[in-house]
Amino acid sequence: MRKPFVAGNWKMNKTAEEATALVKEMLPELQSVAAVERVLCPPFTSLMIVSALLTGTGLGTGAQNMHWEAQGAFTGEVSPRMVKEFCQYVILGHSERRTYFAETDALINKKIKAALEVALTPIFCIGETLEENQASRTAEVVIRQVKEGLAGLTQEQAKGIVIAYEPVWAIGTGLAASGTGANAVVKDYIRSTLEEMFGRQVADAVRVLYGGSVTAANASEFFEQPEIDGALVGGASLKPAEFVNIVKAAVR
Ligand code: 13P
Repeated sequence: MRKPFVAGNWKMNKTAEEATALVKEMLPELQSVAAVERVLCPPFTSLMIVSALLTGTGLGTGAQNMHWEAQGAFTGEVSPRMVKEFCQYVILGHSERRTYFAETDALINKKIKAALEVALTPIFCIGETLEENQASRTAEVVIRQVKEGLAGLTQEQAKGIVIAYEPVWAIGTGLAASGTGANAVVKDYIRSTLEEMFGRQVADAVRVLYGGSVTAANASEFFEQPEIDGALVGGASLKPAEFVNIVKAAVR
């Protein structure tokens, strides 16, 4: 049985002061939902304060990005060990990083390996653009992203990662995928590729989330799908009542 998993990706929102207020508002209710693995991913500048607030609560902290080198002359970047000081998780390969910061599959692969080296759990994002979707290229794109992103991992490493299927056309648009449509992509392209690469046991063990315009109103449509284990939530993770209700809906 895969434990349900819900993470909030705050993206570039909230100062440290605002982050503190947001965590304090949501925390009591979120703490009660221990059946779900719950993770908050604030911007770098709030990781320290958020991780302090979450210590001992059962919730985890995640970064939204990371450099792959251990240290050095990389102005403006943050290393795996720096992230690891405050986090258990790191979002890698988000479509906004692929689009605005030219992150490639090969670069994301380096970051995933670097995260695993310091025992951070990658939340590895994949998904096709609207254009790719309309050209019936979803299978090709998603399979390539899985293969190149996870190339060279051992079975043991692969088993521990979390994958988020986030169709780019569904992110921040209010146009979520359908539950059955997302489930089919996870089953036919993502888990089947994991099986091909790492075997059946790994394919069955990896948590795969859906992301893209998840709200309290549509979350159950995804959580009731057999292949979907939770959600990576953007906009709705900034609204305390919404996020709490999404987490509650993930209880199996
Ligand atoms: P929205 O939930 O705002 O569509 O964002 C999804 C996302 O990109 C999470 O990583």
